[in-house]
Amino acid sequence: MAEKAPGVLAVIHHGNAPTLYRPDNDFMSASKPGEARVVFEDDRVHYSGQYVAIIVAETLEQARYAAELVQVSYAVEDPTIETDAALDSAYLPDEFFGEKLTTTRGDPDVALSRAAVTHAATYTTPIEHHNPIEPSASVAVWNGDELTLYETTQWVAGARKTVAQTLGMPEEKIHIVSPFIGGGFGCKGFVWPHSILSAVAAKRVNRPVKLNLTRKHMFSACGHRSETKQYVQLGAERNGRLVAIDHDTVVQTSMVDEFVEACGNTSRFLYSCPNVRVRHRAVRVNVATPTPMRAPGENPGLFALESALDELAYLLNMDPVELRIVNHADVNEQARRPWSSKYLKECYRMGAERFGWAKRAPQPGSMRDGNVLVGWGMATATYPGIRSPGAAKVRLLQDGHVDVVSATQDMGGGTYTTMAQIAADVMGIAIERIRTVLGDSLLPPAPVSGGSMTTASILPATRKAAQDALSKLRHLAATMPASPFTNRRPDDIVAEGGRVFPKGAHPSSGLPYEDVLKRTNQTEIEGEGYTEPGPERDKYAFQSFGAQFVEVRVDPEIAKVQISRVVSAFDVGKIVNAKTARSQGYSGVVMGVGVALMEHTVYDSRDGSIITSNLADYAIPVNADTRSIDILFVDKPDPFIDSDGLGARGLGEITVTGVAPAVANAVYHATGRRIRDLPITPDKLL
Ligand code: MOS
Repeated sequence: MAEKAPGVLAVIHHGNAPTLYRPDNDFMSASKPGEARVVFEDDRVHYSGQYVAIIVAETLEQARYAAELVQVSYAVEDPTIETDAALDSAYLPDEFFGEKLTTTRGDPDVALSRAAVTHAATYTTPIEHHNPIEPSASVAVWNGDELTLYETTQWVAGARKTVAQTLGMPEEKIHIVSPFIGGGFGCKGFVWPHSILSAVAAKRVNRPVKLNLTRKHMFSACGHRSETKQYVQLGAERNGRLVAIDHDTVVQTSMVDEFVEACGNTSRFLYSCPNVRVRHRAVRVNVATPTPMRAPGENPGLFALESALDELAYLLNMDPVELRIVNHADVNEQARRPWSSKYLKECYRMGAERFGWAKRAPQPGSMRDGNVLVGWGMATATYPGIRSPGAAKVRLLQDGHVDVVSATQDMGGGTYTTMAQIAADVMGIAIERIRTVLGDSLLPPAPVSGGSMTTASILPATRKAAQDALSKLRHLAATMPASPFTNRRPDDIVAEGGRVFPKGAHPSSGLPYEDVLKRTNQTEIEGEGYTEPGPERDKYAFQSFGAQFVEVRVDPEIAKVQISRVVSAFDVGKIVNAKTARSQGYSGVVMGVGVALMEHTVYDSRDGSIITSNLADYAIPVNADTRSIDILFVDKPDPFIDSDGLGARGLGEITVTGVAPAVANAVYHATGRRIRDLPITPDKLL
């Protein structure tokens, strides 16, 4: 019936889909698909929201109408939706992102049994969805046997590889374009079925096809954060020194792929402690596949660890900041390596000072503003300093403009700005003369805009490319006939501040860059830059740190938590651009407020359908939910992150970490109620 509906061009399903191939399942180096199972692979339905057919029509309305006519017949089975219902089949995944998921150092059991003070509790975090305001979309255009996909992707190079493998085509025939991204937060990091479907559909109907996900689709078609259940045990001496940490996590993964929210991995090294055990178990549920989301692992993991530490501080009658300083890890005890640089104590100091922490009355419920309970809480923030190989090109043009190009992406963090800024600095020209072109797989390769690695990966390459362009310019100037530089060696020529001049001469005597090109009839000079992490990665542990300080106001009559003040201090190496960096901080804190107070996806355990698949039922923070946010940076360069002396570890995800536990700790301080189950909604405080 659907096939005969007005305007319908094709109905594609498992019975008539072309052959597709499962791509590599390698997360970091190549191309983890959104799901290992390829779309329409068979006639099994594993979760609510899984695609069973795609309809292509002349108009969206016609396609929607025809979709209503599709009859799907299937045998109904009982789904497993809840973690607890699947616990019997929990298994121990071995590794994730190259990290072991079960590790022990020392003897935590003995240490716990002998510890002067112990604390043990279970902390849970719900399923959360990324919900960028721009939903995912894919426009497929075939030109003969070549495919162009206009995508909303955080990784054009990864998308090209995954799409090529899935369609069984050479990579050279695939072109991915994604110049702007309206937020991603992880759900656009990898290729999900809709991108494959747009390509398949466009081929079938022999014309371009546009496939936009609805908000409802965004809840089942491009990943989410798994629910987590974390059992944390801490043992300490009377003076606060930790003697044991045991962090035991259960997460969900899907029936069609494996993704593990590695909550405990930070607990291996965040504090100095001789006896540490970390374990992750996974259960399979009839829910779509999870994916990285806003500091995967660290975000829910720190909710558990940093809440537990706060509870320990009360048991010890110790200030929470002091407890953390007492347990400061001077080296990474898990990797047994020194930190490349670490200013966490400085973060505690800066944050506490700006916040006014010294004025905190320790007793819960002792700070009030009229009838309103006031609570002050804090937590540590952390995220690894990841860096990947990356390339960029810088082209100096005859008209005086400079093009900076790379296949990296800007999802709102300011990559366009910082790349132009670095190129302008090196070239010594105004930033207005720089044009940055990104998000196209034809450009020099770059890593995923994820893992907070873009700055550390791409800015050194940009700088190198600009330097290369200048050195070619100097060479050209030295060899061009009948010039002020004749018979000079390139080394004797300076290219600075937009002009080329002989060493020792006044810059104003020099020739503008573009004049060198004109005189030598060059349309452009192209500099290339490629940089990659080196042996420093085996010598040092690269990690960013921070401290979150939160003030909440709780109206006891309606159990409503208002976050009135947040002060965040971060050590992320050198700050390249104070404005874009601070802006990242604001967004991370806002997301943290969402995690703490609002965000959770609710499933119907009878059929696995999602009840909250819209932005009315899935609440995210608005301006009224976040009042004053102060973002501070230590701003000391990391001497080892890159060999170019840039010293920026980059930031993004660290800014969300630690917010939720700082809120929970502040709520306890205000009310004496310890909420170990996110989000902290009024029903839990009544
Ligand atoms: Mo991020 S969750 O690494 O896009």
